[in-house]
Amino acid sequence: MQKFSVPRGTCDILPDEISSWETIENKARQVLRSYGYREIRTPVYEETTLFKRSLGQTSDIVNKQLLELATSKDEGYALRPEGTASVVRSYLENSFDKKEPLSKFFYIGPMFRGERPQKGRLRQFHQIGVEAIGPNSASPYLDAEILALAMHLLNDFGVKGAKLKINSLGSKEDKEVISSLFRKEFSKHKKDLCEDCQSRFERNVFRVLDCKNESCRKVVNAAMGSDVHLPLSVGSLQYFNNVQSMLKDLGIRHEVSRHLVRGLDYYTHTVFEITAEGLGSQDAVGAGGRYSGLIHELGGDPKTDYGAVGFALGIERILLASGATQPAPSTIDAFVIAMDEVGQKQAFKLVNDLRHVGISADMNYNGGKIGSQMNRANKLNARFALILGEEEMKSCSIAVKNMTNGAQENVALKDVLEYLRNTF
Ligand code: HAM
Repeated sequence: MQKFSVPRGTCDILPDEISSWETIENKARQVLRSYGYREIRTPVYEETTLFKRSLGQTSDIVNKQLLELATSKDEGYALRPEGTASVVRSYLENSFDKKEPLSKFFYIGPMFRGERPQKGRLRQFHQIGVEAIGPNSASPYLDAEILALAMHLLNDFGVKGAKLKINSLGSKEDKEVISSLFRKEFSKHKKDLCEDCQSRFERNVFRVLDCKNESCRKVVNAAMGSDVHLPLSVGSLQYFNNVQSMLKDLGIRHEVSRHLVRGLDYYTHTVFEITAEGLGSQDAVGAGGRYSGLIHELGGDPKTDYGAVGFALGIERILLASGATQPAPSTIDAFVIAMDEVGQKQAFKLVNDLRHVGISADMNYNGGKIGSQMNRANKLNARFALILGEEEMKSCSIAVKNMTNGAQENVALKDVLEYLRNTF
């Protein structure tokens, strides 16, 4: 018989692991709401062109990692590789720009990229993402708030050794100036660039800046000299300095990295990445930045000057970096045990009644010996075993056994709901 297994680069999140996921998700929702973010849920697939337009034709995600739906009906759609494009699509489609000066969204959900799987790199992974979008909303305060929020979340999740690296790519115009400057410079040293960068530098010269190859690094360092950041215009540099001084005011430590450029085309001005300990080579636990230009790119009102900034954190990497991967056993309030057919019927009704008053309950649907039913109650970590033995059935009562201290009491069947409600 053919055996089936989970697709490569994906995994089952099993019941024992769910409590770690719930803890992260619940904490996230609580913190995000305290910063004024509201949840948005968009489909897991969108038109392929939405991603091509947003992330850029030259990005690795569009070039190599888009998982497109190939059925005849759904041609032209792809699973979402990230959440920003979908949120901007929804922002414009639902005219949020006409309704409020700043929309603060968050999302929690699966993303899909056709990557080569390794530790911390999956084909289906989960992100907690945040996007703040609005007309005339660009402000260094908002950039600083977004960075503070990312660090706040990671701290609350117990992520160890979180380090924040930031950079500024400048305005759209700055990016063009910087591109042609570096393109001219790198063309003089084309033969010293690695194969990837030789093809990259025509299409997206920024990607050469973050290449880890030794010889590319030398070319980049020679071109950049002693500058700590990219050659920005006065306005962009002022904006970047403001963000940094606000971070300082909030006591958020950061490092400026001139090599940090990010792999997605939509960023301008502030970009950032957060790394953490214990993740191996895939050490980015989260990343983001400002992407104001994307709103026009996806059809925003040409007369409106939009601002947009956000980030996404990878939940699998958060779990790895916080060491919260130990399975937590589940528990149940009551396990009902019956000894015969008539008792089974009573037990079935009682389990139903217990659940309706908010007490979690279960039973063996096929009965069985008392010993094996008690074993099952133990395995489920039941707080109480409720036993309907022969004697109890005769006297219309039930034995209530406290599984923690072994104490046992007989309670009239008609009073057992009330009895347990008072106990919890
Ligand atoms: P990203 O850097 O592509 O940015 O992904 C953000 C985070 O998602 C990464 O730092 C990592 O933790 C996690 N991640 C990405 N790919 C994988 C993978 N294959 N396996 C496991 N985890 C992964 C974005 O997605 C942007 N949309 C962030 C953003 C929001 N920028 C502005 N707004």
